[in-house]
Amino acid sequence: MSEQPIDTCMEKIVSLCKRRGFVFQSSEIYGGFNGFWDYGPYGIALKRAVERQWWLYMVEKRNNVVGLDSSIICHPKVWKASGHVDRFGDIMCDCKKCKTRFRVDQMPDPTTCTNCGSKDLTPPREFNLMMKTYVGPVFDEEHIAYLRAETCQPIFLDFHSIRIATRMQLPFGIAQVGKAFRNEITPRMFTFRSREFSQMEMEFFCADEGSMEWFEYWRQERWNFYLNVLKFPVEKLHLHPHDKLAHYAKAAVDIEYEFPFGWGELEGIHHRGTWDMSQHQQFSEQDLQYLDQTANKRYLPTVVETSVGLDRMVLAILCNAYDEDRAPTQKEGMEDDVRVVLHFPATVAPVQVAFLPLSKKLNQNAQDLQEKFLGRYRTELDVTGNIGKRYRRQDEIGTPYCVTFDFDSLEDNAVTVRERDSMAQERIPIEGLRAYLDEKVLG
Ligand code: GAP
Repeated sequence: MSEQPIDTCMEKIVSLCKRRGFVFQSSEIYGGFNGFWDYGPYGIALKRAVERQWWLYMVEKRNNVVGLDSSIICHPKVWKASGHVDRFGDIMCDCKKCKTRFRVDQMPDPTTCTNCGSKDLTPPREFNLMMKTYVGPVFDEEHIAYLRAETCQPIFLDFHSIRIATRMQLPFGIAQVGKAFRNEITPRMFTFRSREFSQMEMEFFCADEGSMEWFEYWRQERWNFYLNVLKFPVEKLHLHPHDKLAHYAKAAVDIEYEFPFGWGELEGIHHRGTWDMSQHQQFSEQDLQYLDQTANKRYLPTVVETSVGLDRMVLAILCNAYDEDRAPTQKEGMEDDVRVVLHFPATVAPVQVAFLPLSKKLNQNAQDLQEKFLGRYRTELDVTGNIGKRYRRQDEIGTPYCVTFDFDSLEDNAVTVRERDSMAQERIPIEGLRAYLDEKVLG
């Protein structure tokens, strides 16, 4: 994509998302609700497809990872044990003059407002990020519960039930995709930092011996996912090892993506040691050790985690896909004719194949053809506007293949398939269309 100012580029992506029904602000008619987002028809198609690719890659294509779908609200003690109730937050202060709020640890001088230079600041206060609710009819301290702040904790709680039910032995992983909630103080950059978001996490349980090899293995696997499945260019990604590690961790690394607003964390790969299992063992007063029959030893499993936000991954895919090029219709003295294209990989495109009748008279023929592919690919029938406009519309939502049914199709039983990125057109016999598209779309 041509170099553009950061704000312009993000603004264009946000505006496209709203205009074409990918993502819009929650509760817009009430003025919006900061940190919450709704996914429209193309947005949810994209999000589901991305989640599907993750699940395929992390669970279904392996024989050592199984799935879980746990409740969002767990016993409040879970979040005591995990440390979230006591430590999950930031120390903040507000400038009384310009009303800007700061994380104290990020201020160059904690006595002076970074924005306006005032020294009139509120005393530092702790903000906890856990979202509270009440379970039961009485709204008092005793009935407080929390919406989960990460999807991994229930995985630790269910480790033994899953192990027994599946007869899995170490090493093996448990994966979960689901909602997480954090009272982020400054939700920002569109969906990048939201208050309600989905996480895709996998906890890999193993013996401590050899756990660093598993850490390296999962770091490589996750890196490969971005390159081979999402087709991100390698120069847009980098690995950022953590300088400061939690006291229990042996290693931690983030995979970062270069968003239009700068490098941002996409995913964390963490060696969590036995911390989580030992905390839950202590707080639940249950023996959570694993009996290793081969080694004839009992021990708490060590955990290697891969953790990514689905919404953040979708945002990175949108940023990576967004492109503008000059269409060949450009004429001298006329304004540049800009074609907006989303170059999604076909596997995650919200519409994989669009069916376009060349004339209204052919609407039924195009619809009959589309119906043959419902459920096989994500399809759309696009009947309004001239064919050029419809191609543009499909480019803008990232449809990789448009199938045009024209008057010749009635005679030669063939259709024109137009490819989004090259704009090349090919005549394909209808009876060979499925084989042709299967290869292109399903890979
Ligand atoms: N279980 C470990 C854990 O939750 P984290 O670094 O707090 O670690 C993991 O979160 C991932 O979840 C991040 O890399 C990011 O992709 C996503 N994430 C975290 N907070 C988010 C937020 N407020 N909005 C959107 N995604 C978020």
